Amino acid sequence: MRRVPVRAASGAYDVIVGPGLLEEGAILPELPGAEKAFLVTDATVGPLYVEPLSRTLAGAGLATVTLTVAPGEPSKSLATAEALYQQLAVQEAHRDDPLFALGGGVVGDLAGFVAATYMRGVPLVQVPTTLTAQVDAAIGGKTGINLARGKNLVGAYHQPRAVIADVATLATLPEPEFRSGLGEVAKYGFALDPGVLDILEASLGAILARDPSVLEDLVARCAAAKAAVVSEDERDAGRRLVLNYGHTLGHALERIDAFRGRSHGEAVALGMAFAARLAADLGVGPVDLVGRHRRVLASLGLPHGTQGVATEQVLEAMRMDKKYRGGVRFVLLEAAGRPRIVADVPEDAVARAMEGLRA
Ligand SMILES: NC(=O)c1ccc[n+]([C@@H]2O[C@H](COP(=O)([O-])OP(=O)(O)OC[C@H]3O[C@@H](n4cnc5c(N)ncnc54)[C@H](O)[C@@H]3O)[C@@H](O)[C@H]2O)c1
Ligand SMILES: [Zn+2]
Repeated sequence: MRRVPVRAASGAYDVIVGPGLLEEGAILPELPGAEKAFLVTDATVGPLYVEPLSRTLAGAGLATVTLTVAPGEPSKSLATAEALYQQLAVQEAHRDDPLFALGGGVVGDLAGFVAATYMRGVPLVQVPTTLTAQVDAAIGGKTGINLARGKNLVGAYHQPRAVIADVATLATLPEPEFRSGLGEVAKYGFALDPGVLDILEASLGAILARDPSVLEDLVARCAAAKAAVVSEDERDAGRRLVLNYGHTLGHALERIDAFRGRSHGEAVALGMAFAARLAADLGVGPVDLVGRHRRVLASLGLPHGTQGVATEQVLEAMRMDKKYRGGVRFVLLEAAGRPRIVADVPEDAVARAMEGLRA
C-alpha cells in the first residue's frame, strides 16, 4: 500500500493506493460527526463494489445509503445532480455525512459537484475504480457537470478527505477503458516523470495483465505526479497547464468525426505523438523523443500516427477552441519530464507536423 500526500491550498489529504483497499477499514479518513455515508455509484460499478465498501463502512460505524446513477457521460448533468440532491434531502443527509464517489471520473465529477454544493459543502471521499480516475480525475478537487453546450461548464473546486484507489477494482474494467487510462499514464511519463516510462517499458506484460503490484507502483507514481502539480497550483493558472500535454490536439480530435468512437486516452496519445513531432520540427525538443513516443504508445496499443485524420479538419477544430488567438498554444517537451508552454504556434507548423506523422 502506498500513500501519496496532496497538499492543496484548500485542503490536505492522501491518495491511498493498493489492492484490496475497499476492505480495509483502517485506511478510512476521519469523518467527525458522520452517521451515514452516501455511496454514489453507477449501475455497472455498484453491483461489483458497493457490498465490500458498505461492509467496511459498517465496521467503522457508518450506515450506508447507496445512490445509483446510469453509467456514462450523460449522467454528468444538472438533472442527475438534482435527483441526487432530492434523495439526500429525503434521506435527511446531515452536513457531516460524507458522500463516497465509487466509480469512474463520471461518478467522481458528479458526486464531487453534489458534495461541493449540497448544504454548501459536505465531506467527499473519492473511491475511483477506473485507471483514468485513479491517476487523474479523483485527484485535485475539480468537480463538475456538463451542459448541452459543452463539457464541465458548471463546477466547483472541492477537495476530497481522501482518495482510495483500490487497484484490484481495475481487474473488471473493460479493455478500452483500461487502454484509455494508459494514455493518461503515458502522459505523466512523458510530461512529468520519466520514471513512469521506465515502468511502462520494463513491466509492460505485467501491466497489460493488470498485475496488482505493478499497478500499485504505476498508479502511485502517476498520482504523485498529479499531486505535485495540484499541490503547487490548485487552480488552472500556470503549472497545471502541463497536465494538458497531448490535450490540445486531443481535444480537437475529439471534436471531429474522423475520431468518433475513439476514447479520450486514444485522442491524447495521438496528441502526444503529434506534440513530440511538433517539438522536434520547431527545434524545441529532440528528434529521438518522437521515436520513444511511437514505441511506448504502440506497446500500449494506442494510436501514434495521423493516417486517416484530415489536417484541415484538425485546424478547423483548433480554431473553435476558446483559447485560439490566430495561433495555438501547446505543451511541448524539451526532454521527457521537461515541459514548456509554447504559445502562438502557427497553423503551418501544425499542418507540417500532422503530415510528418503519416506513417
Ligand atoms: N475532475 C478532473 O480533474 C477530471 C480529470 C479527468 C477526467 N475527468 C472526467 O472523468 C470522466 C471520464 O472518466 P472515466 O474515464 O473514468 O469514465 P467513466 O466514469 O464513464 O467510466 C467508464 C466506464 O467504466 C465503467 N466502470 C468504472 N469502473 C469500473 C470497474 N472497476 N469495472 C468495470 N466497469 C467499470 C463505468 O460504469 C463506465 O461505463 C469525464 O467526464 C471527464 O471529464 C475529470
Ligand atoms: Zn485527459
